[in-house]
Amino acid sequence: MDSYNIALNFEDGVTRFIDCKPNEKVLDAAYRNKINLPMDCSDGVCGTCKCRAESGRYDLGDDFIEDALTEDEAAEGLVLTCQMIPSSDCVLSVPTSSTACKTAMQTYEATVAKIERHADAAIVLELDMAGGTTPTFLPGQYMNMAIPGRGVQRSYSFSSAPGADRMGFLIKMIPGGAMSEWLAQAQAGDALKLTGPMGSFYLREVRRPLLMLAGGTGLAPFLSMLEVLAQAGHAQKIHLIYGVTRDLDLVLLEELEAFTRRLPNFTYATVVADEASSHPRKGWVTQHMPNDLGPDFDAYLCGPPPMVDAVRRHFDETGIRPANFHYEKFTPNAVLETA
Ligand code: FES
Repeated sequence: MDSYNIALNFEDGVTRFIDCKPNEKVLDAAYRNKINLPMDCSDGVCGTCKCRAESGRYDLGDDFIEDALTEDEAAEGLVLTCQMIPSSDCVLSVPTSSTACKTAMQTYEATVAKIERHADAAIVLELDMAGGTTPTFLPGQYMNMAIPGRGVQRSYSFSSAPGADRMGFLIKMIPGGAMSEWLAQAQAGDALKLTGPMGSFYLREVRRPLLMLAGGTGLAPFLSMLEVLAQAGHAQKIHLIYGVTRDLDLVLLEELEAFTRRLPNFTYATVVADEASSHPRKGWVTQHMPNDLGPDFDAYLCGPPPMVDAVRRHFDETGIRPANFHYEKFTPNAVLETA
């Protein structure tokens, strides 16, 4: 292994990736990558460099003192970056902003490779990177896209997996919407500027069954996550409920079908809210929750704010408590809030 990939998730939603060489401390690797993580002593004494390791394997050694990091904190996943030597790729939450660490999100130039319209419901947009290499990101994260000539930007989750040749996005069509109007006349080869990656809604280490809840084009981040899980050959039980308003909002079902063949324990169900629909499952995702996930599962949700609120209420009222509940609330115009 030449180096490990370390994701630094800052408090303002910006993610930066750095390489960390074998036996290199994360604080030193960040500095080499021109990112000034919080630090004071760099000796395991002050605790200023404390961060949370969300995933990955690492060694903290035994050269730090209890005042800097207690045993309980270390057991909870807190780390001192001035002592931390990774032995795998890791994700760290940094409790300060990217600007305080003298870094910022990165800007990328891309060109339109493909635009695929799905009735008047959604558009699959594929982008090529100018210069070739696609940005590194965590499955579930999003990019900000500046809409050419409009002076505005919109946020869209990747539907493609990290490392794919092209970046993929699933975009809701909105009559009169800035992005929808631009896409209506865009051509292959048109240029777009993106910044990111952003967001704390991303796939954590899979330690238990997963419940994925997608509202409309909130399906996008789950396609990215499922691709990563399929490539890794995961065998955990995964159930996705994909809820939409109208029948024609159900898109990319063939991709979900393909995942049922690639992931042995993946199942999904579609749900349509429209009362006039003849779909076999009608109503809201909360009315179609599986009862075979067992008491210990992680839940991920990407959908509009009322869906997030309804699912939280459902968990409260039924006493069903996922071990972890990660969600992203979005409106058609922007990603609002992640947790
Ligand atoms: Fe002081 Fe790490 S910088 S403990």
